[in-house]
This record gives sequence, C-alpha cells and structure tokens, in this order.
Amino acid sequence: MDTVTGKQRVVRKFRHPVVEALLTEVATFDLAAAYERMMPAGCYTAPEFFDFEQTEVFARTWICVGRVEELAEPGSCLATEVAGEPLLITNGQDGAIRALSAICQHRGEIIPCPEKGQSTLRCPLHFWTYDFEGRLAGAPRMGDAETVLKLRQTVRLPQVRLELWHGFIFVNLDPQAAPLAPSLAKLEPLWAGYEATGLKALPPKMSDTPLPWNWKVQVENFTDAYHTEFVHIGTHDFAPSIMEGDGVQFTAMKPGDNAIVRSVPLRTPGGGMMKDGWGAEAAFPAIATLPQEQQRRIFFAMLPPSMTMMFAPGTVAYTLIRPAGVTATFAGSDRVTYGGWLLPQSTIDLPDFVDRCKAVSEGGRKIWAQDVPINRAMQAAKTSRFLPGGIYGPQETTLPQFNAWLLEKYRAAMAA
Ligand code: FES
Ligand SMILES: [Fe+2]
Repeated sequence: MDTVTGKQRVVRKFRHPVVEALLTEVATFDLAAAYERMMPAGCYTAPEFFDFEQTEVFARTWICVGRVEELAEPGSCLATEVAGEPLLITNGQDGAIRALSAICQHRGEIIPCPEKGQSTLRCPLHFWTYDFEGRLAGAPRMGDAETVLKLRQTVRLPQVRLELWHGFIFVNLDPQAAPLAPSLAKLEPLWAGYEATGLKALPPKMSDTPLPWNWKVQVENFTDAYHTEFVHIGTHDFAPSIMEGDGVQFTAMKPGDNAIVRSVPLRTPGGGMMKDGWGAEAAFPAIATLPQEQQRRIFFAMLPPSMTMMFAPGTVAYTLIRPAGVTATFAGSDRVTYGGWLLPQSTIDLPDFVDRCKAVSEGGRKIWAQDVPINRAMQAAKTSRFLPGGIYGPQETTLPQFNAWLLEKYRAAMAA
C-alpha cells in the first residue's frame, strides 16, 4: 500500500492548473453554498479533474465491486479495477474474501483470474504463482531451493481493505479510511424484512459501451425526485414525489455519511416494477416480511460514488457504476443492462420467474429510455456559456446533499 500512498502524494504535488482553478472556486463554497448552487461545470468536463477525482475520491472511498454470490467457492476470483488499480477479489482456502493487488511482485505484470481448475493465481509473464491469500507459491528458475523459499517467505501480493456489507463487497485503496458500515447506518433499518427471506443476488451485467456522460450526471439523475413526474410520464406515475397527503421524504446528512436517501409513496401498497414501469401488478411479488412502511414506499439510496439502490416491496435492485473517463461511465442494472436484483428464493422458484425478470427489465428499460436523452443534454450543457449556477427546489434536497458529499471529499484533498 505504500506504493499507492506514494503515488497519491506525487499527484497532489503536481496538481494540474485546471484542477487548481476548480478547487479554488470550490474553496469559496461554504457548506451552505453547496446547498444553493451546482458544482462548477469543469468538474464534469475537464479530463484533469476526472483524474483528480480518481485519485482523491475513488481511491479514498469505499467502492462496491460485486457480491459474495460471485465468489461462492474457495478458490474463486473476481478481477476488477478501482481508480485505475487492477485488483483480484479472491475467496481463500480459509473461506475469507480478500482484495489483492493484481500487480505481480516480480516485475509488475498484471495477473488475471485463474482459468477454471487452476489452483493458484498465475502471472502470465514468467509464471510466478500465488495462493488465493496472496502468498507467493512458486517462482520458476529463480535459483536454488533456498532462494525460492526466501522469496516465498517474503513476497506477497499487497492486500487492500475490504468490507462486506449485506453481501456487497466494498474495497478501499486508502489504508486510513474510516470503516464503511457506520457511514451506511441509516440504511440498516431497511434490511431486516428482506433478509428474513434469505435473499439471493442476481448480479447485473455491466454495459459494454460506456454511457457518454460524467459519473456525477448518472447519480444525479438517479437521485432527482423532481424530474420523475415530468420525464417519466406513464412509467413513474405510480411512485410519485407529490401525492395527496404524502410525497417524497428525505433523510438528514451528517459529515461522513455515505448514503443519500429519499423515499416516495406507492399508489397501491406492494406495487413494483412491471413491463410498463412502476405499477400495482409488480412482476416481483411483495415480500410479506417487510414492515408496512416498506410495502407502501420505495426507498432510493445513492451510495456515492459507485452504487445506487432501490429498496422496493418485491426486491432490492441495484446499479453498479464504474467511470472510465470524464464523459464515459460504465453501469450495470435492470435499467441499463439486465439484472442487479436481490430476491427471496420463493420469487426465484416461481415457474414463470424468467418472464418476470423480462417484465422488470422491460419496465426498467422504458424508464431508462426517458432518462438517456436527458442525461446527454445535461452533459452537453456543461460546456455552455449560459449554464446557470443552479437553483434547488424542495423536491431536490438529495442533489445539494450530494454536493455536500463531494465538497467534503474535495476539501479533504485540498487539506492534505
Ligand atoms: S512479472 Fe510476473 S512473473 Fe515476472
Ligand atoms: Fe429518471
């Protein structure tokens, strides 16, 4: 991890003038201002600012890289990348899930996940092998037995911090980062009714071409309670932000919080996604063990910067977000691709389960088709000379909450 820390120091020292100018502008925001205006356009358009965010936000926050179901057996492996660092998430012989650097400690080749049946992690360049806990297992032609033994005793793939949260695997490249779980405490009360059913995950497929906008446009679109009744006419009316005697509700944000949450009522309790969007006849049946409040509302949670979640009566649906460039964002979910559901076994066992998944995907895609042109245009407008500073209304509370989250991360980078 020293290598990583060292690299971050170097990046800070030679920070680009474009980044410095944006940080200087952001430095004039106090926390109250973050609740009144948008982040500067350059934060969404400058490649240098994207590089800065990779180093100072993505390499310092908890990033969701997948689910425990993807590493069910000892010896299973998941290759991923966080802030440009190739990682291998492994299930060791001891049954523990670890995040290891994929960089071979011989001369630095990237190690892939093993082929089926291979019992070690093997570097493709000179076939050094490592066990699933990262220890060097073999180093061919490196000298006599004593030399190799010494290497085996000292060489290890660097380990990265990892936390499991309700079956989600989160990693953090920052060895000093505060633990994840307390930062998600406000979501805890939502889980019990789902977990009583023994949830199973159907992880999402990731998009194979990036979405042409900044990752912040992606999550802002998700968290915006104001747009749903205008952009999503016909697909979202069942889950409105304003309803007689009811409507969107927000949660307070504290420093260090990593969940930005809103909830909206459903017109009929137990509803959910069906082939035309949100509706009364949910394709995934309502879960009987959920409390009434969760039968009659959907809770939308943004876990910046890598995941969004919807706690609905029949499922917990999630999206994974992996930015690849300032206007290139990979994502995977029922809306963008397919899958990304946590479901009770009783739903998975339904004889027409595949058709139900198709219906949810169809409904999700209809909603997403309405969001795509909106996101494209929001990104395009970031280069306009007429872009406003932004005015937030009462239904947009989660957007300035996200600004406050960003400001906290940017400020930490400025102070370091
Ligand atoms: S770089 Fe990996 S074995 Fe040589
Ligand atoms: Fe939308």
